[in-house]
Amino acid sequence: MCGIVGYIGKKSASPILISGLKKLEYRGYDSAGICLQTAAGLELVKNKGRISQLEKDLAVRDFSQSRIGIAHTRWATHGEPSVINSHPHFDCLGQIAIVHNGIIENYQALKELLVKEGHKIVSETDSEIVAHLIEKFHQGDIEKALRRALQLLIGAYGLAVLSQKEEKIIVARKGSPLVIGLGKDEILVASDVPAILAHTKKVIYLSDGEIGILTAGGYQIKNSAGQILDKKIEEIKWTVDQIEKKGYKHFMLKEIFEQPQSIANTLAGRIKNHQAKLSLKTDLKKINRIIISACGTSWHSALIGKHLLESIAQIKTEVDYASEFRYRDPLLYQDDLLIVISQSGETADTLAALRQAKSKGIETLGVVNVVGSSISREVDSGIYLHAGPEIGVASTKAFTSQVAALTLLSLYFTQQKKLVVDKKIISQLANLPEKISQALALAPVIKKIAEQFKDSRNFLYLGRGFNFPVALEGALKLKEISYIHAEGYPAAEIKHGPIALIDKNMPVVFLASKNNLSAKIVSNIEEVKARQGIIIALANKGDKIIAKLADYLIEVPDSLPQLSPIINVVPLQLLAYYIADSKGLDVDKPRNLAKSVTVE
Ligand code: G6P
Repeated sequence: MCGIVGYIGKKSASPILISGLKKLEYRGYDSAGICLQTAAGLELVKNKGRISQLEKDLAVRDFSQSRIGIAHTRWATHGEPSVINSHPHFDCLGQIAIVHNGIIENYQALKELLVKEGHKIVSETDSEIVAHLIEKFHQGDIEKALRRALQLLIGAYGLAVLSQKEEKIIVARKGSPLVIGLGKDEILVASDVPAILAHTKKVIYLSDGEIGILTAGGYQIKNSAGQILDKKIEEIKWTVDQIEKKGYKHFMLKEIFEQPQSIANTLAGRIKNHQAKLSLKTDLKKINRIIISACGTSWHSALIGKHLLESIAQIKTEVDYASEFRYRDPLLYQDDLLIVISQSGETADTLAALRQAKSKGIETLGVVNVVGSSISREVDSGIYLHAGPEIGVASTKAFTSQVAALTLLSLYFTQQKKLVVDKKIISQLANLPEKISQALALAPVIKKIAEQFKDSRNFLYLGRGFNFPVALEGALKLKEISYIHAEGYPAAEIKHGPIALIDKNMPVVFLASKNNLSAKIVSNIEEVKARQGIIIALANKGDKIIAKLADYLIEVPDSLPQLSPIINVVPLQLLAYYIADSKGLDVDKPRNLAKSVTVE
């Protein structure tokens, strides 16, 4: 939610900020802006719409001499997307500029106070008051003024502040991520690594409560008491190449096709001698119950994780939306383990769920993709996905890697408890990249099916057991990027409501690959067919019964039921992608969505 970039160094700041913003556009894209320090003062350019628009606006001005600046791409929380509401925001005199990611919860009260004192607040945002608070406290030292302002803020922030009079950028973090990139004679700051990767791989992650003072010659990181900290410099492993589209029309398509490799990366070095190898600090033998908490697509992988952990490792597992868990005051026991799953490692609700469990002394484990993210740093132990950067807003390769990681964890748990490990699962797990490649080869068939349904208004996705969460995920993918209403349901449940929706215009996607419920799925297909619903079935090759019933057949590679979600989701990702693309939609940046949800 919102992306921040800042640059201070010897080069012209504006092109660096714009290319950084483009790499953060997945965080929000309803408006964008930039503020540059120039000899004439602070220059502000901002506009509604995409960063390409901002780039055009900048092209008519010459800011090539400016070597310091801050920039922002917005996902609106307070106030509609408009020029006035877009960042950066100024104080009354236009001498202090700020960009903000997060939400200031007490902004109304602060706004009233500032207005009473004569400040002219022009936007509807919560963010603008920060610039005015700094102005209120400013007596020549911008860092001191920011510190005093921060004391009054309730909520979450990643902030970058620029003053007309000081050649520095001050940044502060509470709840919203900020990473500082250390280049040669230049320092960058951003909400996420892709924005700085082209310039440096040496970074410092700011923690909550810390302030960074960035100058062309160096930096200082201080804690909330103002003491200078000696923070660890970390090395980013991602390459610039990984964050390019590489000839694909969209990042989402590229990421779908990367799945044989991303799954292989998740599994690499973690299967040896028919054993799952993980290095976890947590002593799993002491655990009696697992709670998995997550949001969005990660919540769907949590649902599959429950099936895996209960059926493979025989451990009681519950799944909770992080946004519910955090406020429910859940009943927790000392022998519980909380697993949090997050691609970004920054989702506000998931982070809050983690913190809540930790405050109650519960052991925690993260399944996270982004190395160095807040969740990855706060969990007691973790499994990194190593799926590489995921840029498309709709999650694809992170999902399959999450499920692969949860399968590994279930097997590892089984070993720790000295239960018998099913060798077939281990060997087929290792073989997954090959199966995913086979599923990807279905792309031309799926594209043709997609073209038939691009004007559909509704879709149903039905599955059972391991594949019920896949039905949810298939429906979510379609909703997210094509704006077609879609629902996922456990197949047998349609009799309790959704069957009323079925008529000759309703496409129903059935997850009908072989498992112990196959006969039941056939009955569910018959029920839909009897009401003239259109059957799109995912079934294993050679399944004559399903082939006969289906109006459209997608023949997926066979597998053990436990591993089928990872394979079956791939055609559903492709179906959603090709439907959205044939409608001419912006697949990587669907309306109203953002990839990293750092506000609750
Ligand atoms: C947003 C994204 C989804 C993602 C969810 C959870 O809604 O658009 O793709 O699944 O957040 O994100 P996380 O990074 O915690 O997995």
